[in-house]
Amino acid sequence: MEQELLKLEKACRACQRCPLGATRTNLVFGVGVPGARILFVGEGPGEQEDLRGEPFVGRSGQLLDKYLSLIDLDRRKNIYIANMVKCRPPHNRDPKPEETEQCLPWLRSQVRILRPQLIVCLGRIAAQRLISPDFRVTRQHGQLIRKGNFTLMGTFHPAALLRNEAQKADALSDFQVIRRWMQENDVH
Ligand code: URA
Repeated sequence: MEQELLKLEKACRACQRCPLGATRTNLVFGVGVPGARILFVGEGPGEQEDLRGEPFVGRSGQLLDKYLSLIDLDRRKNIYIANMVKCRPPHNRDPKPEETEQCLPWLRSQVRILRPQLIVCLGRIAAQRLISPDFRVTRQHGQLIRKGNFTLMGTFHPAALLRNEAQKADALSDFQVIRRWMQENDVH
């Protein structure tokens, strides 16, 4: 699995399917443990991620790591983290739908290799593409949704939580839903 992921990452590094490939500093393929049963999917790399080549290493990443640690999850131990687009959109704008579509086969391949059981969508961009186009994070966060072989959940993007403290309590309760799912599915 590790070899397969490395091979995929190498192929992804050469990708120029959309214009973001030309302006990135580093590819941000993903980070985590092959064999992880939970995959977190964000939107796209920001400035820090682009500089370091790893997802969620800026301020929102620190918040994400904190929430993960509350339920004994850790990118170095038991989860995998990826983004909808692997290259930074300039000035941190949202990825355009066509960029997301061009990039999606890479995420699909990651999923095919990793075979996670639970996919947690961080924010609207991931939730609307992976769960349903009309997904509303404020209304549907924390719901476990069965789709094919996977269980999916949408929750708040950590950057949104930094902007809106009032949503933190809801986000924490979503992480407790993940903890309960882990207990019920014997995931540690
Ligand atoms: N925001 C995201 O959606 N992904 C990252 O990797 C960093 C910030």
